[in-house]
Amino acid sequence: MTARIIDGKAFAATLRARVANEAAKVRDAAGRTPGLAVVLVGEDPASSVYVRSKGKATREAGMESFEHRLSADTPQATLEALVDRLNADPAVDGILVQLPLPGHLDERAIITRIDPDKDVDGFHPVNAGRLATGLPGFVPCTPLGCVMLLRDVLGDLTGKDAVVIGRSNIVGKPMAQLLIAESCTVTVAHSRTHDLPAVVRRADIVVAAVGRAAMVKPDWVKPGATLIDVGINRAEAGLVGDIDPACAEVAGAMTPVPGGVGPMTIAVLLRNTLVSAARREGVAIDPAL
Ligand code: GUN
Repeated sequence: MTARIIDGKAFAATLRARVANEAAKVRDAAGRTPGLAVVLVGEDPASSVYVRSKGKATREAGMESFEHRLSADTPQATLEALVDRLNADPAVDGILVQLPLPGHLDERAIITRIDPDKDVDGFHPVNAGRLATGLPGFVPCTPLGCVMLLRDVLGDLTGKDAVVIGRSNIVGKPMAQLLIAESCTVTVAHSRTHDLPAVVRRADIVVAAVGRAAMVKPDWVKPGATLIDVGINRAEAGLVGDIDPACAEVAGAMTPVPGGVGPMTIAVLLRNTLVSAARREGVAIDPAL
């Protein structure tokens, strides 16, 4: 058996086109363009690339991109003052502070300072609480993108056994919450889990977000299972996910690396920004988005 390869790149392109279409509706109804503010502190090369591609994708979706680049030695108070200004700026629907921040800055204090209703990353504790309790709010982009792919491949997820490997606030925990909301039976595994292969072998759905190259092996995988690989590991051979590509011989469907989950993150960020603008302006948009 050879797994269906889940084309996240194509799905993301379609989502971005739908966002652009709805953004035009918000623009016409509200008389202003939805806007995303992205804040980068320092010059980490990977972060600079992400921030540039977020700006480009935002403009391509017909939304406004406000980029704030601050020097690596920016004091906490300066960054907080910028967040306060963006919170108060009516042209800004979404605020994203690129992580990680330089070591002298208090990341938690910055995230908590962002207005939860502009927190399109979904990292604010208020949004984590909303997700956990089933209230509308913003959901972190990567796990939401994973659920969109799963729904596309499997349809209704009710009753599926899902294993999430990794318990980060950015992926693992919100992923588990989303799968619970989809009526899956969810196990969250992590570095202290006993007999991880046996845990993974029970799963109809595996979401791997640990950051260990090719960790999930073919003999861990239940035949026909759907595998979602959030890992992006730099190896000598190039980018490698957390799931051994040889798992494609056992799985029913799996995401490739690159071209699987990766392209979904920015597309969902644009989606969240659009949803924020539509909520703030009281404009109805496609509820399926
Ligand atoms: N750094 C890497 N990915 C992300 C992301 O999705 N959001 C933010 N704010 N920082 C990141």
